[in-house]
Amino acid sequence: MTEISGATRVVGVIGSPVRHSLSPALHNAAFAAGGLDWRMLAFDVAPGGAADAVAAIRALGITGLAVTMPHKADVAAAVDALDPAAVALRSVNTVVLGDDGSTFGASTDGAGFIDSLTEAGYDVAGRRVVVLGAGGAARSIVYSLGVAGVADVAVVNRTPASAEECAALSPVGRVGSFADVDGADLLVNTTPVGMGGSGELPLDAGLLRPDLAVCDIVYHPLETPLLAAARACDAHAIDGLGMLVHQAVHQQLLWTAHRPDPAAMRAAAEQELLRRAGG
Ligand code: ATR
Repeated sequence: MTEISGATRVVGVIGSPVRHSLSPALHNAAFAAGGLDWRMLAFDVAPGGAADAVAAIRALGITGLAVTMPHKADVAAAVDALDPAAVALRSVNTVVLGDDGSTFGASTDGAGFIDSLTEAGYDVAGRRVVVLGAGGAARSIVYSLGVAGVADVAVVNRTPASAEECAALSPVGRVGSFADVDGADLLVNTTPVGMGGSGELPLDAGLLRPDLAVCDIVYHPLETPLLAAARACDAHAIDGLGMLVHQAVHQQLLWTAHRPDPAAMRAAAEQELLRRAGG
């Protein structure tokens, strides 16, 4: 790893709370693997402070920001320009400071999700997809599934109004029900059900089939009850760390114009999750 000097470039991750963010571990590992004299630091920015944080990167020449809860919408309103995904979602997870001092906001979560499927050898074009949940992550995924050319996206959520809003982000989106899993090619869980060792499943395991691909964006634990059930019936199981890694690949590409090594990011994330689990 390069020594920190006056020439070291800095990016930040802002959130509240931010201390549990995996972003510094992922990004710093990839900076080191690529021999880049860059560092990421975490900044705990209180709710309502996002616009000040964006102004601060201009003042300090901090090259970019990763943005997490609860600032994604406020940052979208605070930057000078947005990429198409950020416009559609009214949400930003990445800020880039231009040479002219202007700020650009992007949303890389959905693209990261699609790349994680590609990495797992799954081509989503023309597929029928069921998305469980309709929160921020689901919105990014449904938008990007539409861009990637899927045939159908059924959004299943306990709150119908959010499902409707989420489904509208894709031209082939609609509100669905668990019955849609029967005719689907890909099932994506975006709800927190199964997180933290609860052992819960977000749907009846009897709905899973060997010819279904199943992705759970929950990565704590990495093998969620849903993924274990999918593997038990020989379905193609895709874990959630790929989305985390590949949204970060897009971020680093935007900041540095250098494509980072996803394997270095994934190894760092796995090591950090293991450390936190006390392993
Ligand atoms: P994220 O930003 O990670 O997407 P979120 O915006 O809080 O998180 O969204 C969580 C999603 O999981 C929501 O769709 C939520 O359903 P509601 O819209 O009805 O709140 C869903 N969810 C959360 N807990 C759930 C549970 N126990 N069972 C089913 N769905 C759940």
